[in-house]
Amino acid sequence: MAKPFIVFSDGCNKDVFDKIKGNSELEVYSKPKMSQEELKVLLPRVSGLVIRSATKVTKELIDQAPNLKYVVRAGEGTDNIDKTYCQQKGIKVSNTPGANNNSAAEHAIALMLTVLRKTAAANTSMKEGNWNKDLFTGNELWKKTVGLVGFGRIGQIVAQRLSGFEPNTLFFDPAVTTSPIEGATKVDNVSKIFEKSDIISIHVPLIEATKNLVNKNLISLMKPGAILINAARGKIVHEADLFEALSSKKIRGAALDVFATEPLEKESKLRMLDNLVLTPHLGGSTEEAQFRVGEMAAHQIEEFFLKEALHNEVKA
Ligand code: MLT
Repeated sequence: MAKPFIVFSDGCNKDVFDKIKGNSELEVYSKPKMSQEELKVLLPRVSGLVIRSATKVTKELIDQAPNLKYVVRAGEGTDNIDKTYCQQKGIKVSNTPGANNNSAAEHAIALMLTVLRKTAAANTSMKEGNWNKDLFTGNELWKKTVGLVGFGRIGQIVAQRLSGFEPNTLFFDPAVTTSPIEGATKVDNVSKIFEKSDIISIHVPLIEATKNLVNKNLISLMKPGAILINAARGKIVHEADLFEALSSKKIRGAALDVFATEPLEKESKLRMLDNLVLTPHLGGSTEEAQFRVGEMAAHQIEEFFLKEALHNEVKA
């Protein structure tokens, strides 16, 4: 009988890959930046697919993979997988919960400090040969009000890691009844986060209810000196509304790690704003997180195909 054919279409940590490749009961293939065309050639034989955010498991992809039994998202968000169609086809879906959460939280904090202290712009200016000290006067994070939209695993890590800055931490999350973190105060309406916070950071998944959640209505409640950080999912923030608020300087600044369309279009107007910091979906991109998500994904693949055990299933 043919061995299950496992493809890591968005790459994999080398140590993790070498280990799973050594499993004689599986046939394993990985490539960091596999093109759609390359993946297409492999799809008819694929039994297990391990992806990050680049591969989109669409109906079209699934229809080309008649032997696909299991998709593992090496990461948290599964919005790049058509889970309803997977379910219809009997394909199981899992993610690797928690494995990259610390990295995602640290990146959100890095973005807060980057916007507040203007370090990205100062770096660009220095590389251009300038010494513009006055242009880059920033703001402190210490004792500011930080509003977290979503207080699941990542939101809670952000609150914990930030505690040394002695912030006044507010959070909005209907799923969390009492604050699990000392010093973090629950508010009962998301608009309170936008009205009261100096720094707002988004930590909810992309689902129907959070699509365009941060639009002109919420943004209009922000204090003029406030900043917005989104390292969760692009479609949660209405990009045109944010562009308007930033270009008219209604708010101080923002940072986006995630976008409605990824990769962000080359000609996107967002690239032109000097009060907006951009990173290319780096939340989970650390060596540590990639090792942990890879290890967890590889373990789940082995368990599924060799022991018929399904871990961390995500349903439609
Ligand atoms: C995730 O959902 O796991 C994060 O956005 C990081 C990633 O996509 O790699």
